[in-house]
Amino acid sequence: MLSNFDALDPRDRVIVAIDCGREEALELARKLQGKARWLKVGMTLYYAEGPSIVKAFKDLGFKVFLDLKFYDIPHQVEGAAYASALTGADMLTMHASGSIAMMQAGQRGAQRAADELGAPVPATLGITVLTSMDDAALAEIGVGRSCAEQVPLLAANAKAAGISGVVCSPQEASMMRELLGPAGYVVTPGVRPAGADKGDQSRVATPAQAFAAGSSHIVVGRPITQAPDPAAAFQAIIAELEQ
Ligand code: C5P
Repeated sequence: MLSNFDALDPRDRVIVAIDCGREEALELARKLQGKARWLKVGMTLYYAEGPSIVKAFKDLGFKVFLDLKFYDIPHQVEGAAYASALTGADMLTMHASGSIAMMQAGQRGAQRAADELGAPVPATLGITVLTSMDDAALAEIGVGRSCAEQVPLLAANAKAAGISGVVCSPQEASMMRELLGPAGYVVTPGVRPAGADKGDQSRVATPAQAFAAGSSHIVVGRPITQAPDPAAAFQAIIAELEQ
């Protein structure tokens, strides 16, 4: 299925995951400035540096995917989404397993901040089943269903809650695209350019494969951030996608 994102410039669809400390993060951001357009801030960097790292990236002209995976009572998630959106973050995550009511609260918080800022509302993404979990891990927490059953159930709940889309592996992207329709965000990590080191990722796809499967955006970290020339590594991915 085609998506509303297919016409975008590939630079608007490749998100660079910055998983390191502040100084290295800022150095990477400066190297990628004017080339990459999206950076991802995860828990490690955020809990060390707080909202100032998001603001620093925004000041350098980047869009920021703030991946904090909210999971709490709806009132708290509404507040977390509100505060995160006030930093200027352009994309937020929450666990779909926290309930439809919790996701709706997150959406409300993001919307309230956007209204106050007079800015577009950040994209809100649901995490279905963490890719680090398997059927045995679901059974351990009392979920008597397989990952293959649980992932689409939670994605359908994300859709019912009215959030923007999901984070998923490239292997799940086409199913998510069908489920969410052309406007849904389908954001996929686990992407490796052909020939790149897989690192600790097991099930990987190339950028072109991930987009062909229906991803709206891909998240690529170490193949860019640990390259001798991160800007050139980013540019090589874009060139491959533009072919
Ligand atoms: O360096 P690499 O390209 O593997 O980075 C992928 C990024 O996507 C990391 O920030 C990682 O935390 C994140 N991620 C992932 N797999 C998931 C969810 C998030 O690799 N299922």
